[in-house]
Amino acid sequence: MKKIITISAPGQLMLLGEHSVVYNRPCLVTAVDQRMRATVELIENPELQLDAPDVKVIGYKKSLEELGNGGMPKGAKFVEIAVRNFSEKYGLKSGIKVTTKSEFSSLFGFGSSSASTVCVTKALSELSGIKLSQKAIFELAYKTVLDVQGKGSGFDIAAAVYGGILYYVIGGKVLQPLQIDSLPLIVGYSGVKADTVTLINAVKEKADKYPQVIDGIYTEIETVVEFAKKSLKKKDWQSVGELMNINQGYLSSLGVSTKKISAMIYSARNAGAYGAKLSGAGGGDCIIVLTPATKKRAVEKAIIQAGGEVIQVKANAEGARIEK
Ligand code: MEV
Repeated sequence: MKKIITISAPGQLMLLGEHSVVYNRPCLVTAVDQRMRATVELIENPELQLDAPDVKVIGYKKSLEELGNGGMPKGAKFVEIAVRNFSEKYGLKSGIKVTTKSEFSSLFGFGSSSASTVCVTKALSELSGIKLSQKAIFELAYKTVLDVQGKGSGFDIAAAVYGGILYYVIGGKVLQPLQIDSLPLIVGYSGVKADTVTLINAVKEKADKYPQVIDGIYTEIETVVEFAKKSLKKKDWQSVGELMNINQGYLSSLGVSTKKISAMIYSARNAGAYGAKLSGAGGGDCIIVLTPATKKRAVEKAIIQAGGEVIQVKANAEGARIEK
């Protein structure tokens, strides 16, 4: 039986439908070609050893019995709880050493925690000889996300496991791959790290105060997502861009856009993009822009002029896979 394995999983970007997806509306998400890698090794000591230098966790150790108890560095939480959840459900016969390495910064909001959770869950399933299905890996990894942060739709876990471009409903109730080979996408990083749970809570506060208003906005976003799904399938980028702009308007009304994000978005639109919006929880992280090939340079320049950083990624990347 194998004693060591390396698994990789893609980063993810929300295309349309963030926030409303938490309240049972569908979203569209893509896996991106920048990947997280985790090497997982069975060791004698009955403990978890973790090196995750990208999130400043080096030489972290915890006995298997204590997993999930006591303090955990922020950067270790997802891996620790993923190992605990696997151990509780399927058992672990020995200790393990996990080393993670990411091709993308954990600041971008590409879902590095979700990707590492998926890598570790798949690695343990391979090393223990159980070879869980994609669905079982999704379910266990999604439980880990809920255990750590209490909230979340699991869209990021789904994209990390399955890859591609997905039409998705919370908890994997609907999980439909769209057969779209590429997207003319540009990604701009705002330079500000956002905290998903803080933003979900801020939107919830608004929803508690104005329930009909906010629920109405979620329903409008759902309609936008349904139209965008059809337009994506037809590769009608003009319409997808326009729908992204409409989605951005609703996200602004939920209060999750910022001056910096808006500046980058307007700058990209003015330079000839089909459309632009924030991607993810808002408050920072990245914007996504759909652009005609002839305007790519001008749009990239416009994002930089507005204070953003262009991140080179391609959509529709492969899901979690064994590297060696
Ligand atoms: C965050 O990237 C997207 C949200 O919709 C949260 C989630 O779906 O888990 C705000």
